[in-house]
Amino acid sequence: MVKVNKNITDIKTPPIDYFNNLLRTKSNNKFKSISFGHGIPMYTPNNYYKFSNNPLLDDSSYKYTEIRGDERIRQYISAKLNSKCSFPVQSDNLIITSGANSAIFKSLFLQLKYGDEVIIPSPVYFNHTMAIEMIGGTVVEVNSIAESGFQLNLKGIQNKINSKTKAIIINTPNNPTGATYNNDDIKILAQICDKKNITIVLDYTYEDFSYNLNYNPLASFEHLKNLIIIGSFSKTFGITGLRLGYICASKSIIEDLCKIQDTISICAPSISQNILLQLLSNENDAIKMNFNSASDSRDKLIKCLNDSKILNWEATNGAFYAFIKIPNTENSWDFCEKMIIEYSLLVLPGSIFGEHWKSYIRIAYGAVSPKEIEEGVQRLYNQISKTT
Ligand SMILES: Cc1ncc(COP(=O)(O)O)c(C=O)c1O
Repeated sequence: MVKVNKNITDIKTPPIDYFNNLLRTKSNNKFKSISFGHGIPMYTPNNYYKFSNNPLLDDSSYKYTEIRGDERIRQYISAKLNSKCSFPVQSDNLIITSGANSAIFKSLFLQLKYGDEVIIPSPVYFNHTMAIEMIGGTVVEVNSIAESGFQLNLKGIQNKINSKTKAIIINTPNNPTGATYNNDDIKILAQICDKKNITIVLDYTYEDFSYNLNYNPLASFEHLKNLIIIGSFSKTFGITGLRLGYICASKSIIEDLCKIQDTISICAPSISQNILLQLLSNENDAIKMNFNSASDSRDKLIKCLNDSKILNWEATNGAFYAFIKIPNTENSWDFCEKMIIEYSLLVLPGSIFGEHWKSYIRIAYGAVSPKEIEEGVQRLYNQISKTT
């Protein structure tokens, strides 16, 4: 019998499949299913791009690329980051990975020894927690301040820093709250981390989904010394299934990261890189389509929640998530199961983003139309008003 590492058996199974399956098999057929569960944007390349070359016919699609990924994609990212950073980013600061999740895992695997601590503002993106625990590290959650739109709790973070602290993960724009962390707070955190030689892992997956149009968390950093930037192509280009992301780090650790990349995946999928190379020329169309659609859905969500009177959302400014407190509910897992079984509506329980958030739900609005938002919020209202 295969003896599984306790680090893995101790981790909870990812919850998304469970709720997707519940929606598929247990929803009420009186209602059309609506999913506010998927963290995906509305449009794929089929909606905004006509391929001129078929990547299936290109031999290089079937071969490994360099470990670091295609140089042209790395040049594209370095130009994009250079437009936002006060320090230079070159293509040899970059590795293309199979998605941001694998970039996060590789970046943490690079740093953590058994028992090392990583601080994460909570609610947390659960794959961050899973990666740390799999590697044998310890997660230290610090609750964000709900009343301030889930901004960083700087004092709380500072209080948790000790000699075991290796890294702090910040995810802005944030999943699951949609918060865009205040630049001054990030700056203070960066200075603290510089002084104490702690790495900031900045998960910048939702880079292109900020409704405060000048938002730029990278402006808060002065160098890459204690910073690892994690990016994703999934949301910007609507290509979650192609599995492409990146790591940006100081050159001194890229060699070591390449050892991990080579061992786990050799390189990011070549065919995906070839598809992306064509899409890069149309980046603005991709961003515009997905951003505008998320922005329209957000406007509609703000209006519907306000009109409902019983669901309050102090609208956050990024990604495509709303994290909302459900009145009179201490068990949002049960609440979410009920929403599927009685109303065919999928929302995710706050508890999967941290124990503290049992009375919250996450609404993902990136891939739903304003009409579905209206209908979904009505169903939430119908359920909640039974108990208020
Ligand atoms: C905060 C955050 N980081 C990383 C990811 C994973 O992105 P990718 O598809 O690039 O692996 C997600 C996906 O939802 C996310 O929300």
